[in-house]
Amino acid sequence: MSGERVLIVDDESSLREFLSILLERDGYIVRAAPSGERALDVFDGFAPDLVISDLNMPGIDGIELLRQVKSRSAKAGRDVPFILITAFGTVANAIAATREGAFDYVAKPFNNDELRLIVRRALSIRDLEADNVRLRAELGERFQLGQLVGTSPKMQAVYGLVRRVMGTRINCLICGESGTGKELLARAVHFGSDRAQGPFVAVNCGAIPENLIESELFGYLKGAFTGAAQNKVGVFKAAHGGTLFLDEIGEMPLSAQVKVLRAIQERKVTPVGGVTEETLDVRIVAATNRDLQVEVAQGRFREDLYYRLNVVQIDMPPLRERTSDIPLLIQHFIQKFADEYGKPMKGATPECIRLLQDYRFPGNVRELQNVIERAVALESGVVLTPASLPERVHGTFAPGGDERGELDFPAGGIDIEARIATVERRYLEKALEVTGGNRTQAAKLLGITFRSFRYRLVKFGMDAGDLSEG
Ligand SMILES: Nc1ncnc2c1ncn2[C@@H]1O[C@H](COP(=O)(O)OP(=O)(O)OP(=O)(O)O)[C@@H](O)[C@H]1O
Ligand SMILES: [Mg+2]
Repeated sequence: MSGERVLIVDDESSLREFLSILLERDGYIVRAAPSGERALDVFDGFAPDLVISDLNMPGIDGIELLRQVKSRSAKAGRDVPFILITAFGTVANAIAATREGAFDYVAKPFNNDELRLIVRRALSIRDLEADNVRLRAELGERFQLGQLVGTSPKMQAVYGLVRRVMGTRINCLICGESGTGKELLARAVHFGSDRAQGPFVAVNCGAIPENLIESELFGYLKGAFTGAAQNKVGVFKAAHGGTLFLDEIGEMPLSAQVKVLRAIQERKVTPVGGVTEETLDVRIVAATNRDLQVEVAQGRFREDLYYRLNVVQIDMPPLRERTSDIPLLIQHFIQKFADEYGKPMKGATPECIRLLQDYRFPGNVRELQNVIERAVALESGVVLTPASLPERVHGTFAPGGDERGELDFPAGGIDIEARIATVERRYLEKALEVTGGNRTQAAKLLGITFRSFRYRLVKFGMDAGDLSEG
């Protein structure tokens, strides 16, 4: 904490001397000036990291000095925190000065430790801001693709692959765990391509009931079936000239897969109840968090469709395999939510960042985003600290760890159903916690369908009455 330069300004020589001794003992390089005018004379040459000034001085007073220091340091592209010292009767003026950019004020007579702490805090926050400016600059560089944040080698490999397919109309399959950014990547593929002016249509194949899939995908004609009162445009047609994003493609029933395959191969669709085919120009980007090769081997996914979609496969790495992206992501989300909530939050302490880098993030970037949103919403300070983070991040929750522990098996035997139910319930709770209460995502994290997840919530009386998705 030494070597930082502090400029002290006070017309009272005893106070100048006292402050100089106090701060020099802490390792700061100190220069003292007897007036605002003298302070400005030495300001550029001394280049202080911090200014402490009396408020009431003859000539240039503390407030005027604050304005001049702010404007000079802004021109030099630096941030020089400014602390005011004020006498008992003028505290209100000092508070007004904090609105003009003074970092803080101390009232005379002051406590030495309090002053030392304020100085320390002003300098460390300034350092943090400097780090953030550097991180923000990095964000804008070649390491970015669309809205995706991340500069790790794994993400750069993804960007490289995407840039190669961007100018083409090649179909892509994006694979990755829940919350890794598959949808964000699909959008980047579309908005970076020459079809960016065309539509981007996203459809969640897992959310459409099986009997409605065909009309959802291809549309229908008026009178095709009871209830078809109007013509309906399907998503393939809606995406004409642009990109169709088939999300959760692994959830699509086999009956619909045949039809999708045909539409992709022939580039033609026929609406339900129609006789004439329509020719379409659509690029397909599909995404899945399942291993489609396994699905193919087990007969749940058509091999021919798999090869049609998978002309280029892009694997989104889980967050735990690219922990070097975590500081940048933290910064990105702090900025985003501080703006959204109107909070002064600026960054995170190094301990806080380290804890997040050590955590496994089963819910990937989405989980990190939820953690930061919650922390920004709840905290009122300018930095996130370990205390702002939920308990699970503090190293107390290790997914998958439970099963490997020593089993407790009393001589009288156990009630296995009850034990399993306890474990099941704990995982349900944990999945909801990790996803910020999003049931669709929680079900995915547990590797079960939404329907099955909902059934289990009801079984344990954990549903809050609202059984819709989300
Ligand atoms: N690299 C990233 N940079 C910034 N935000 C990201 C990044 N990756 C993911 N996100 C954010 O995390 C959330 C989840 O991302 P997205 O919906 O793209 O994930 P997904 O892989 O489609 O998940 P799922 O399989 O659960 O649908 C979104 O709010 C997204 O904006
Ligand atoms: Mg998704």
